[in-house]
Amino acid sequence: MSALDVRAFTVGPVQENAYIVRVDSQARQAVIIDPGEEPERLLQAAQELGVQLEAILLTHCHFDHIGAVAPVARATGAPVYCPEVEQPLLTDIMSWVPPGFGPFESHQPEHTVAGGERLRLAGLDIDVISTPGHSPGHVTYAASGALLSGDVLFQGSVGRVDLPGGDWATLERSIEGLLTTFPEETVVYPGHMGVTTLGRERDTNPFLSELRARVPRVSAASDAAATGS
Ligand SMILES: [Fe+2]
Repeated sequence: MSALDVRAFTVGPVQENAYIVRVDSQARQAVIIDPGEEPERLLQAAQELGVQLEAILLTHCHFDHIGAVAPVARATGAPVYCPEVEQPLLTDIMSWVPPGFGPFESHQPEHTVAGGERLRLAGLDIDVISTPGHSPGHVTYAASGALLSGDVLFQGSVGRVDLPGGDWATLERSIEGLLTTFPEETVVYPGHMGVTTLGRERDTNPFLSELRARVPRVSAASDAAATGS
């Protein structure tokens, strides 16, 4: 298992998980995933860890995942990687925020992602995987045996599909893609609630009963055998 150092910060009234991720606990560079709210707390945490935030990665642009992007970007100079089709939600943020939340500040992202990219940031090799269904441009970031998967898959649950652009069949295909690509030991750091693994969700998640019946188990051992390593 990797020595990847992942710190979770549950922020804002919707209890969204932002993550600071680095190669290991000694690394001085990190990326931050989905800074959803409480920018001062996130910046303070980075300072206490002694890390410079090299990039801001967004899984999707629902307001609870992006509310702190602008202030964190301004304070750190870190470029923002935003799902391409969801850019309008970040560049005109308050048009999409339900009453009672915010105010949040818009931001023009420096980079867009659509899935299929490999990013080299803070010493990490990060694969960007297209995982739509909860939202139309949703991506998952994969690095060193871990998935930063936003609102795709939760401990015992899945992302809601009743918001604009949501679709259950699409989300189920996205989850199937993750289950068939990564070993069951892969750690899932979701956008809400606790950390889990792909194998645990495959075996126990009540929303995946149909997938369970047709998706073969992928273990690290069989993965290694398949690649001859
Ligand atoms: Fe969401």
